[in-house]
Amino acid sequence: MNSVYLHWFISFALFYGVSSGDPGTDNLLDSEVCFADGFAFGVATASYQIEGAWNVSGKSESIWDRYTHEHPERIFDHNTGDVACGSYYKVKEDVQLMTQLGLSFYRFSMSWPRILPNGLSNYVNEDGIRYYKELLAELRRNHITPVVTMYHWDLPQCLQDLGGWTNPIMAEYFADYARVLLDNFGEQVKIWITFNEPVSFCEGGYGGEDAPGGKSSGFEDYMCGHNVLRAHGMVYRMFDQEYRKKYGGHMGITISFSWLEPATTSLEDRKAAETARQFNFGWFANPIFSKTGDYPPIMRTVIDTNSKRQGFPRSRLPYFTPQEVKMMRGAYDFLGLNHYTTYLVQQGTRKIRNQPSYEDDVNVKIHQKDDWPKTNSSWLRVVPWGFRKALNYVRLNYRNPKVLVTENGVSFEPGLRDTKRVNYIDAYLRSLHAAVYKDGCTVIGYTYWSLMDNFEWTRGFSERFGLYEVDYSSPNLTRTPRLSAKYFTNVAKTGCLPNNFADYTYSRD
Ligand SMILES: *[C@@H]1O[C@H](CO)[C@@H](O)[C@H](O)[C@H]1NC(C)=O
Ligand SMILES: *[C@@H]1O[C@H](CO)[C@@H](O)[C@H](O)[C@H]1NC(C)=O
Ligand SMILES: *[C@@H]1O[C@H](CO)[C@@H](O)[C@H](O)[C@H]1NC(C)=O
Repeated sequence: MNSVYLHWFISFALFYGVSSGDPGTDNLLDSEVCFADGFAFGVATASYQIEGAWNVSGKSESIWDRYTHEHPERIFDHNTGDVACGSYYKVKEDVQLMTQLGLSFYRFSMSWPRILPNGLSNYVNEDGIRYYKELLAELRRNHITPVVTMYHWDLPQCLQDLGGWTNPIMAEYFADYARVLLDNFGEQVKIWITFNEPVSFCEGGYGGEDAPGGKSSGFEDYMCGHNVLRAHGMVYRMFDQEYRKKYGGHMGITISFSWLEPATTSLEDRKAAETARQFNFGWFANPIFSKTGDYPPIMRTVIDTNSKRQGFPRSRLPYFTPQEVKMMRGAYDFLGLNHYTTYLVQQGTRKIRNQPSYEDDVNVKIHQKDDWPKTNSSWLRVVPWGFRKALNYVRLNYRNPKVLVTENGVSFEPGLRDTKRVNYIDAYLRSLHAAVYKDGCTVIGYTYWSLMDNFEWTRGFSERFGLYEVDYSSPNLTRTPRLSAKYFTNVAKTGCLPNNFADYTYSRD
């Protein structure tokens, strides 16, 4: 089979091979949970979090390079991604890890400053192209389908100097960058993700404490979101009109969705939970995946009203033109969904403040239950049933789109006998299984975050999500499989959840 054909075949299976409906497990014991043939298993990483080689062979500075160098105090362990997992130098070794896991796909991101050092497409860094070509060739040799994220937070610093995502011209610059990727890799890559978790990099980056540290919540976060949505729409249309007939393939966007459950059954809390979902997931889902398009009506109304009360002559949430609404609406082949945990939502009590913020606009109180199992991440407790609810919310509110779970995972203390991680994955996969085969959600695959421990943004190396443990103190950055790697191999190779790994079953409700 020639390679192009092989890739068509694999992505064909990935996208059309899933028979939605019952794979015939109802008569089996609960422990023999199986996914249908064609349901794909993979792992994910992101360029800044694993590559290292931050200043090598023409790569320029990203916002995370600048941020970790200038503000070590904002990183939990004062570390940087300068070296990270050294994956820039370990193409063969890393792909071997995936081969050992028996995976059908690998989701990774391309580094904009490695490919376009000055952010713009007038100069393409050949070493950047070479590096990803090598990675893609190695994946092909090992029959692993690439799933490529164009943007996973590492904006070239030189573009941040122009305002980054708050500057409307970024949408055009991103489209220029996307064109370089499609021209160079369109033949090898059939599954594209434009952006990873816009809420994280817009709210966290421009509203909060993550790079670039905009700290301008209620303003810059909304500007960022606005331009990212425009950029996504432009790139999807460009892909659809110019590249699809040439290379084929599929394009989507990855949005994070923690399930938001009302804290009580009161009408107020139920309304608060729905508002929170709209501000969180709906912010990016509604313009692309809803039938009507545009921002969620509740966001529009609340931010317009608050802005007026605060004395602004115009809303802090920008308006799309009718052409832009149309461009973004339906701009997807699939939804990439990241899901980790669940929160309880109560009605907020804040009065509208003169100092605006995203939090002030949402105006809800969220918390997690004390008896939900803790992990090594303060924001992440183990709540498997929330996964099923989030998937069903997507099915019911966005016309059951094709979903690729692009991230799900958990951090625990270092160590190879990670039974807690095995239990987490097992419980979340059971919840996912129910969403697909009992409820009818169209999910085509599951991606574990992450292949190996890596640089976890402002948490540095302190939080480990890997199936492989990375020894950061060894010059080789040695990767060693954890028990969870063995477990996941079993899952990926058989499509079934083995019953001899998990030693604990989390509560289903
Ligand atoms: C690259 O960065 C490292 C620190 O991570 C430094 O030691 C080295 O001198 C830098 N190399 C260049 C060419 O600037
Ligand atoms: C995670 O574990 C590290 C030690 O490995 C510890 O320093 C850190 O405080 C832990 N973080 C949380 C949120 O528990
Ligand atoms: C580092 O890797 C090299 C090449 O794989 C190997 O020969 C060497 O033994 C390794 N060193 C350590 C300390 O693991």
